[in-house]
Amino acid sequence: MLERLVAPSLLAADFSRLREEVQRVEQSGADWLHLDIMDGHFVPNISFGPAVVKAVRAHTRLPFDVQLMIGNPAEYIGAFVQAGADRITVHVETDGGSDRVRQLLREIRERGCKAGLALNPETPLEQVEPFLAEIDLLLVMTVHPGFGGQSFIPETVEKMEAAYVRRAACGLRFRIEIDGGITPETAAAGLLAGADVLVAGTWLFQSRDMAVAIRELRDLAGREAATVKG
Ligand code: DX5
Repeated sequence: MLERLVAPSLLAADFSRLREEVQRVEQSGADWLHLDIMDGHFVPNISFGPAVVKAVRAHTRLPFDVQLMIGNPAEYIGAFVQAGADRITVHVETDGGSDRVRQLLREIRERGCKAGLALNPETPLEQVEPFLAEIDLLLVMTVHPGFGGQSFIPETVEKMEAAYVRRAACGLRFRIEIDGGITPETAAAGLLAGADVLVAGTWLFQSRDMAVAIRELRDLAGREAATVKG
């Protein structure tokens, strides 16, 4: 059974105090730091780039889980590796089709990082199936990417379940990460469906005590527990 992980999303942090916010995340017992890279093209918002990733890298030892929501990821993988990324996730909807996606995943691993593949709420699981043996993480977006503070899309739960069943059927070990509108209620649904990494922005950064909030997410029951309960 894969251990449950919690990754706060820096997009919801107070950008005027990034060092303190990153230290708060680490001191609160988070497992990873999730970094949303947006270019205003692939998604309708602009967040931050390699320079900010490098700047916060100096203030924490947390693994960096970098999600590239950009139109031309191939041109930036090197820069994010140098900035300190430990994991890099690209979107299957990225221009250039499956050969390009396969190349990106291979390059991420060749540069020593873990490779992730993300799919948007409207994208069927079939589109990522050809790559499941070449990834360390599958990111099932539970909101349309681009902004924090959105509501969780319940229809995405079915896709998590299908990914969980597919992973078991193929004897694979990629992690199943969910991201967008994560709160204890929506996380519970995701975990019971088979997710094992929870990305949360608003709910964690707006909590009075992030350590308590992280523990609350971590203590929720997972699919195995449900299965055991039968
Ligand atoms: C949205 C981002 C998410 C977002 C999560 O495109 O990928 O990581 O920051 O924030 P909440 O938890 O507020 O939905």
